[in-house]
Amino acid sequence: MHAQSETDTLTIADKKNTNTRIMSSKINTITVIGSGTMGNGISHVFAQCGYNVNMMDIKQDALNKAISVIGKNMDRQVTKGALTEEAKQQSLGRIKTFTDMAAAVANADLVVEAATENIELKLNIFRELDKHCPADCILASNTSSISLTRIASVTQRPGKVIGMHFMNPVPVMKLVEIINGYATDKEVTQTVIDLSVMLGKVPCVVNDYPGFISNRILMPLINEAVLALQEGVAGITEIDTIMKLGMAHPMGPLQLADFIGLDTCYSIMHVLHMGFGNQKYAPATLLANMVQAGYLGVKSGEGFYKYTPGSKELVVSDRFASRVWQ
Ligand code: CAA
Repeated sequence: MHAQSETDTLTIADKKNTNTRIMSSKINTITVIGSGTMGNGISHVFAQCGYNVNMMDIKQDALNKAISVIGKNMDRQVTKGALTEEAKQQSLGRIKTFTDMAAAVANADLVVEAATENIELKLNIFRELDKHCPADCILASNTSSISLTRIASVTQRPGKVIGMHFMNPVPVMKLVEIINGYATDKEVTQTVIDLSVMLGKVPCVVNDYPGFISNRILMPLINEAVLALQEGVAGITEIDTIMKLGMAHPMGPLQLADFIGLDTCYSIMHVLHMGFGNQKYAPATLLANMVQAGYLGVKSGEGFYKYTPGSKELVVSDRFASRVWQ
């Protein structure tokens, strides 16, 4: 899979109309805004598939850390023979880092924004992107819940704004949820579908409603698990074990909430609650309290479980460990 390989490009594009073929083959340089977990994962997969990546963040320290994380995640692939050391070095060589947005997007064919999930921040970023990006550049957001139609409305190119929602960990998870805003052009959707296939991912196209599909279904599941814990129906281990062994989920919902970040889960529930105006989406009080208190899961070191760097053992947080369910 190499973006600049004419043969590979044609293999995908041959199935599509001529207009799409022209658009797909034009995507060579991708700017990723944000270098956190999602931004570095997205940069990783694009670079590995042969695209030139401009990774932008406001702090050079964050960018340096992201390059180191990408290197370590590529090492996992090298260890298991999924990537050669040479391909790893070439992939890392395709990633350039920027702290200046205008410079980062000057030659971009596509921007994937993966900044913090905050509406005002994202609207500002898209206003700036619209000013600085080439006229035909597609503007995608990795938002997990914010309306693409709203984001597109602050640009002069709503037809070129689209959701490209990757899942964590990006190098491992196969799905790209593609969200059409109200005004997204069909050719733009097709280009993003083709790109996702080029990355070895499976694209699924959905429309712009609160939580799209992924989080409209996942977050109420997580919230319900928190409610069950709050009501004392069962303990953390029991809730997660039931969903892991009974429903074959790779992680139980409380472990997954810690993995995603409890603040992110809370903010997505808030978007669903406000967007649908339905009480069934109200975030659990326990979830709200944990977020207020700074117990955010893996990223803060403790949530439903407590995390020790370097250890994979699942240890229930002391705050819950004393309760006995029988
Ligand atoms: N980069 C590259 N490879 C990685 C990786 C990364 N960041 N993270 C894990 N891997 C690889 C490991 O090397 C390992 O590879 P092999 O099996 O080939 O050896 C494999 O993935 C499994 O990893 P681990 O052995 O470390 O651990 P695991 O078996 O417990 O799997 C997991 C970890 C893949 C995260 C798995 O637990 C899982 O699928 N969990 C659910 C993840 C999920 O639901 N993600 C979506 C969250 S929602 C979201 O992202 C969007 C939103 O809007 C909130």
